[in-house]
Amino acid sequence: MTLATLEVMKIVAVLYPAGEIARKTPELLGCAENALGLVDFLESEGHEFVVLTDKEAELDKHLVNADILITTPFWPAYITKERISKASKLRLILTAGIGSDHIDLAAAAAHKITVAEITGSNVVSVAEQVVMHILALVRNYIPAYRQVLDGRWDIAEIAAKAHDLEDKLVGIIGVGRIGQRVCERLKGFDVQMTYYDYHRLSTVEELVLGARYRMLDRLIEQCDVITINTPLTPHTDGLFNREILFRMKKGAYLINTARGRIVDTASLVQALEEGHLAGYAGDVWFPQPAPKDHPWRNMRNHAMVPHYSGTTLEAQRRYSDGVKDCLIRFFNGRDIEGDYLIVDKGKVVSPSYSYAFKS
Ligand code: NAI
Repeated sequence: MTLATLEVMKIVAVLYPAGEIARKTPELLGCAENALGLVDFLESEGHEFVVLTDKEAELDKHLVNADILITTPFWPAYITKERISKASKLRLILTAGIGSDHIDLAAAAAHKITVAEITGSNVVSVAEQVVMHILALVRNYIPAYRQVLDGRWDIAEIAAKAHDLEDKLVGIIGVGRIGQRVCERLKGFDVQMTYYDYHRLSTVEELVLGARYRMLDRLIEQCDVITINTPLTPHTDGLFNREILFRMKKGAYLINTARGRIVDTASLVQALEEGHLAGYAGDVWFPQPAPKDHPWRNMRNHAMVPHYSGTTLEAQRRYSDGVKDCLIRFFNGRDIEGDYLIVDKGKVVSPSYSYAFKS
């Protein structure tokens, strides 16, 4: 039971469409049809709840008098400075998931809009996916699977590019909640691990995770496998440009479940086509949904999937509960969980983003 606020609010959510699957799978909470399981709750509190799949005209129409906006990285509505300037009533933006880069955080701060995400909600889901992507590339799984579908049986063709993961040097860029869970899960594969982050871990933490710190330049040049697990910020936007991609070890693999824009689209295609990189995998693209002719759909040696790693059914339950918790607190004038806050009281406060947004 919550104490109902006297103020009736307009809450707008922009979520991915699911159609018939939504009815058959009520646990698919993150879709527009199941609306994060919030319909009964918000209606019982007397609020207006508008759920959209349209990220353009419909969103613009409703945003002008919305008090709260809920978005998700899996179907990102890009909340630009211009949109924020037109949303004069907007006080809270919640990200159902992790990663609020689809929101102009500086503009939100300037307009004193609170931005929060559901920190930790899907970190296990992504860490598991990272390990899967690493194995898919190193073991040459996708071409082998394709042979089966195509009715072929050519062991040499697959085995000539299949490796053991054991003893490989794996570099983790961004050793936060996801990066640390990747380390924990990779330990069983007897790899060597190294990491780069703004914040160096303590010696004890390094020992527990089995990963040693390395300067970014050296990590890039020396690793057999690199996984990117940082947020998208002004510092990481385009970080893997042509120069960095071609400074990676020849034949290395790159995994990116962080954000598509961290890797330069055209340069990645070139690095794969020229055989400099042996493979690329991940679930994040720019823009999203990726258009049918996105160059990454058909580049060589990739194992890309749509953006779903952080939206397993278990993760959807966790981030839906987190969104509800934020709403209850907000309606009752209580502080949102500190760990969830990205922008608060006119400042970018999340440790992961604030470094890049320092003036
Ligand atoms: P976190 O905040 O716990 O960890 C991020 C780490 O990156 C921190 O240790 C931070 O110091 C480090 N970092 C930030 N900027 C850096 C830079 N320029 N260079 C080096 N290190 C830097 O975040 P968490 O939960 O681990 O998530 C990381 C990112 O993963 C999210 O921001 C989001 O973009 C992405 N993500 C993707 C999902 C998917 O479904 N594919 C789901 C969840 C998150």
